[in-house]
Amino acid sequence: MRLNLSVIKADVGSVGGHTKPSSRMMAAVEVEVGKAIASGLLIDGFICHTGDDIAIIMTHTRGEGSSEIHQFAWKTFLAATSVAKTSGLYGAGQDLLADAPSGNIRGAGPGVAELSFEHSLSGLRPAESFMVFAADKCGPGAYNLPLYLAFADPMYCAGLMLPPMIKGFRFHIIDMDNTVGDSVIELDAPADNYHIAALLRDNERFGVDRIVSRTNGEVAAAVSAQRLHAIAGKYTGKDDPVAIIRNQGIFPAPEEIVSPFAKAHFVGGDARGSHVMPLMPVPLNTPVTGMYCLPIVSCAGFSVDKDGRFAESYTDFFDNLAWDEVRRCAQRKAIEMRSQGWSGAAMLPYSELEYGGFRDTVSALLKRFRLREERKPEAAE
Ligand code: 13P
Ligand code: 13P
Ligand code: MG
Ligand code: MG
Ligand code: MG
Repeated sequence: MRLNLSVIKADVGSVGGHTKPSSRMMAAVEVEVGKAIASGLLIDGFICHTGDDIAIIMTHTRGEGSSEIHQFAWKTFLAATSVAKTSGLYGAGQDLLADAPSGNIRGAGPGVAELSFEHSLSGLRPAESFMVFAADKCGPGAYNLPLYLAFADPMYCAGLMLPPMIKGFRFHIIDMDNTVGDSVIELDAPADNYHIAALLRDNERFGVDRIVSRTNGEVAAAVSAQRLHAIAGKYTGKDDPVAIIRNQGIFPAPEEIVSPFAKAHFVGGDARGSHVMPLMPVPLNTPVTGMYCLPIVSCAGFSVDKDGRFAESYTDFFDNLAWDEVRRCAQRKAIEMRSQGWSGAAMLPYSELEYGGFRDTVSALLKRFRLREERKPEAAE
C-alpha cells in the first residue's frame, strides 16, 4: 500500500502566557483524532505538544497534500481554538492565518510535513520506523544544520560510508523568501556539499524541504519549511518547524540523526521571536517556562505495523539523561548570549525581527533624523 505520513502542527492558544496548550485543548484534539480514525479517514493518529504548539501525527492513504486530511487538521485546530477562547487563553487561534482555506492548508499558518512510500514491510524496508521533530520558539531553518550533518557528513553519520547510503542523498532546498510559490532547488550530497552549505547557512531564507536517497529514490525526510511572517506580512509568531525523518537500514540510524542536536546550535527565535539563542532538545509535552523563552525541539520515534498503525507505543528521544548535559550546555550558551541583551548578534537583524513593533519604533525615529548642515571649513589663516 502507498502509505502517507502527515504531521500538521499549530499554535492555537496557551495557558499562563505562551507556555503550553491546556489539557482541555489537548482533549478536544484527541476526540477529533479518535473520530477520524473511527471514520476511516486516518489509519492512526498521535498528538503531542512542544511548548504551545500542538502536533497531530497521522498515517493515511489519501496522498500528500490531501484536502480531506488538511481540512480535518484545520477543523481540529478550530475546535482547540474554540476551547482556548472559552477558557480565555493566550493567543487563541494564533497560527490559523487564513479564513477557512479551501483544500490544502499549506501556507495558511499551520506547519505541514508530509511524505509517502510503498509500505509492505519487505524488500528495502523490512521494518518501517520514523521520527518526528517539533520545535517551538524558533525560525524555519532550525533543522538546516542537523539535517546537513546527519545526511551529508560522515563525522556525524558513519552510516553514510555503508553501501546503501554511499551514493548520498538529494537535498530539496526551498527559498522561503519567494512569496509567489514554492521555489525549490535540488542538490546532491556529497558532490554539491559546498553549494548546499552556502544555502543552508542562511536559516531565515533557505530551508531543507525534503531529502531523498540517491540509491533508491526513497524519501528520507520532509520538513515544514515556510515563513509565517512572509505569509501573513506581519508578526504571527515564529515558524516553529516540524520534520519527519525515516531511520534505520537504508537511512541513518536514530543516533546519527539526533547527535547533531548535541550542539544546541544557535537559531533565530526565543523571546519576541527576535533573538539568536541555542536550540534546546526537550522531552515531548514540555512547556516553555525557563528564563528567556529558549527555542526548544522534541523528537518522537514510531514503528509502523503492516496496516499502517503506529501509535501503540512511541520513543521520546530527548527524554534521556544524556540530553541533560546538552540542556545544561544550551542554558550556558543562552546565559552567555543574553548577557549582552539587545546588542548586535544577540538579536536578529532588522528584517528578521518577528515583532513588527520593533521596526515601527525605529521607523518613527528615522522620521526624526535630520541631515546635519555641512560645517564650513575654517578660513585659512
Ligand atoms: P542493536 O544491536 O541494539 O540493534 O544496535 C545496533 C546498532 O547498529 C546501533 O546503531
Ligand atoms: P509562539 O510562536 O510560540 O507564539 O512564540 C512567539 C514568541 O514571540 C515568543 O516570544
Ligand atoms: Mg504562542
Ligand atoms: Mg508556539
Ligand atoms: Mg509559533
